[in-house]
Amino acid sequence: MKQQLESIRSQAMAALEEASTPAALEELRVKLLGKKGELTAVLKQMGKLTAEERPVMGQLANSVRAAIEEKLEERKAEIHASVLEAKLASEAVDVTIPGTAVAVGHQHPMNQVLQQIKDVFVGLGYQVVEGPEVELADYNFTRLNIEEGHPSRDRSDTFYFTDDDSVLLRTQTSPMQIRYMETHKPPLCMLAPGRVFRKDEADATHSPMFHQIEGLVVDEHITMGDLKGALITMMRKLYGEDAQMRFRPHHFPFTEPSCEMDMQCHKCHGTGEVNGQVCSTCHGEGWIELLGAGMVHPKVLECCGIDPNKYTGFAFGMGLERMAMGRLKINDLRLIFDNDIRFLNQF
Ligand code: PHE
Repeated sequence: MKQQLESIRSQAMAALEEASTPAALEELRVKLLGKKGELTAVLKQMGKLTAEERPVMGQLANSVRAAIEEKLEERKAEIHASVLEAKLASEAVDVTIPGTAVAVGHQHPMNQVLQQIKDVFVGLGYQVVEGPEVELADYNFTRLNIEEGHPSRDRSDTFYFTDDDSVLLRTQTSPMQIRYMETHKPPLCMLAPGRVFRKDEADATHSPMFHQIEGLVVDEHITMGDLKGALITMMRKLYGEDAQMRFRPHHFPFTEPSCEMDMQCHKCHGTGEVNGQVCSTCHGEGWIELLGAGMVHPKVLECCGIDPNKYTGFAFGMGLERMAMGRLKINDLRLIFDNDIRFLNQF
C-alpha cells in the first residue's frame, strides 16, 4: 500500500507539472482526488490493514493528498498567471505610437467663392436672403413680365410639378426680386443666392442644376451707372484690380435696358486659342458670360406696389459656377459636382 501511495504521489506530481490549462488541471483533480479517484480507491483498502499499520498508512495517505492539493494550487496559480500574461501581451497598447490623424474637411470651393461674393455685397449694404426652390410659375415667370408662350416657359426647358404648369423648380433666382419687393419697400438692397434648375444637357459650362446669385437695388435716382459700379467693384475684389470684363446689350423681359456681363476667359486670356487650338473653356470666344442684368422694368415695380415714377432700380443674376470657374481656374463645370475628394482638396 505504501508503494501504491508513493507511486500515486510521484505520478501525480509529474502529471500536474505537465498540465498547462485550467481544464487539464480540473481533469487531474477528479482523477486523483475525486470520489472515484485513485487515492480514494487506495483508502478503501484500509480495512484490510492491521491496527498498527492503519495510522501509519493513514498519515501517509493524508500527506499524499496534502501534497497533491498543494501542487494543484501551485499549478493553478502558475497557469492563471501565464494565461493572464499571454492575454496582456496580445492586447498590449503602445501608447507611444502616433495617433491616426482625423481628416478635417474644408468648405466646398463653391461655398468659398459664394462667401467671398457675399462678403463684397454685405460690405456694400446688401441684405442676404434665401427663397424657395419649388416656386410658383407666377413668381418665376408671369410677374417678371415673362408671358404665357414665352420659350423659357416651355416644358422642354423647365421642370414642372403640375399638369397646369403652375408649380415648378425655379429656373432663375429672379422670382426673389418679386418676393422681396412684396415684403420690403425702397430703399432696398438684396442679395439672394440659391439653386436653380433647367433642362440643360451637362457640358463644360452647363448643368441641369446650378447656382445663381440675384441682386436687387431699388431707390430714388438709381441708374445703370450704379449697376456697373456695383458689379465692377465685385469683380475687382474677386479677381484683382486689373480684372477684365465687358458689358453687352441684351434682352430680358423684366429689365429695361438689359445687358450681360462677360469676364475675360481665364484659360486663353481673351485670345480664344490655347496652343493653336480653339479654347475649350470659352469655345474660342475669349470671354465667359457671367451674368444678366439691367434696370428693373417699370411693370415689375408696379406689380409689387412700387411707384415706377418715383423709384428706379437695377437687378442682376450671376452664375456662381461661372464665377468659381474663373476664380479657381476650373476648366470643366462638371468637376464641381463630381465630389471627387482629389479635386476638392486642391482648393
Ligand atoms: N434671371 C436672368 C437669367 O437667369 C438673369 C437676370 C437677373 C437678368 C436679373 C436681369 C436681371 O438669365
